[in-house]
Amino acid sequence: MNMANATQWVRVCALDELPPLGARVLEVEGLAPIALFRTAGDAVFALRDRCPHKGGPLSQGIVSGETVTCPLHNWNIRLGDGQACAPDVGCAPRYPVKVEDAVVWIVLTAVDQPQALAEPA
Ligand code: FES
Repeated sequence: MNMANATQWVRVCALDELPPLGARVLEVEGLAPIALFRTAGDAVFALRDRCPHKGGPLSQGIVSGETVTCPLHNWNIRLGDGQACAPDVGCAPRYPVKVEDAVVWIVLTAVDQPQALAEPA
């Protein structure tokens, strides 16, 4: 995928190509990998595939409700806004996503800027 229309909606895949309660990684030239998540209710979210704690791959985490649990140290990250659940603090940038006619679309411009990585406990 190229960045020709970075501020436009870009077709990603069919909804069926995302496993329920699962994720896949979207590789885009010039961008850090993006993790796409699908909930049990077929909502789709996109976050930078980098945990705000120490950079773990969120795409390999466990989706539960509308959060993903990072596979490295079990932080829970809200899919809707990328924020870590309390007491943890941090944010993974999110990307606007929509599903129309069972097709997933994304805008390749992150909505939120990442906060500084949290200090180790
Ligand atoms: S890197 Fe994700 S919880 Fe530590």
